[in-house]
Amino acid sequence: MTITVTPLEEGFGAEISGIDLSRPLDGEDRRAVYQAFLDSRLIVFRDQDMSPDNAIDAARILGNDLEPHLFKHFHHPDTPLIMVLSNRVNGDGQPKGMKDAGTFWHSDVSYKPNPAKATFLYAREVPDEGGDTLFCDLTAAYDAMPGDMQDRLHGLIAMHDYNHVPRDIFSKLDVTPPPPCPQPVVRTHPETGRKAIYINPGYTTHIEGLEADESADLIKDIFRHCLQDRFRMRYNWRAGDVVAWDNAATMHSATTKNLDPAKHRTIWRLTVSGGPAF
Ligand code: SIN
Repeated sequence: MTITVTPLEEGFGAEISGIDLSRPLDGEDRRAVYQAFLDSRLIVFRDQDMSPDNAIDAARILGNDLEPHLFKHFHHPDTPLIMVLSNRVNGDGQPKGMKDAGTFWHSDVSYKPNPAKATFLYAREVPDEGGDTLFCDLTAAYDAMPGDMQDRLHGLIAMHDYNHVPRDIFSKLDVTPPPPCPQPVVRTHPETGRKAIYINPGYTTHIEGLEADESADLIKDIFRHCLQDRFRMRYNWRAGDVVAWDNAATMHSATTKNLDPAKHRTIWRLTVSGGPAF
């Protein structure tokens, strides 16, 4: 296959063409995809048609270990490795998937000591309007920070809590969030060695060792910097799209909260945990 990697017009990230993810890829293609993932922080494939097994194989290009989501209720009927995001309901009114996976900025699983390495989404059906996903490039944001701000952040530790933005879904589904966990405010990417901001509005509660006001002010300053338009992009889905991103280098937000219930959106979501793929 001839793979082409083209930077996205929307902002950061790259589209990879010349790949059919429903077929086994040879080692060279897998490496090329993985390198594009590391270089671009977010990769897109268009017009894919995958079974659950195909999606699992494709997500494993980014790392062998896939992690079932905490919300077992939304696991795909064939496999716990796929979580179904959907606003569809069954005949008896039961949700066919998780309707809103987080309409706030977050980096997946930053609230656990072993956070998600990559997230892999495969759009099965999308509305003609609405349901975009927003992304923020936290490597570029770190690089563009004034040196004195970077120096101030090095070595700081922040706490992350899945329940920071209270959501009734925990009590509704009787799920207990894991205990809060510490993460560095500036994280060095385990493979590229590049630094990125690693706090996010969804899960970061405070910075350790600072007075509450000082911590809140600093967090506000960091987010004000990171969330400038120049580090952000909006991804408008087409059915058949796959978007996978590096959680050590980006954060994202769904925009599904106010999606018209008559407009259906169903996306499979796979979480890659663990270390290097090669
Ligand atoms: C997610 O946060 O993993 C899902 C994003 C989306 O549904 O747009």
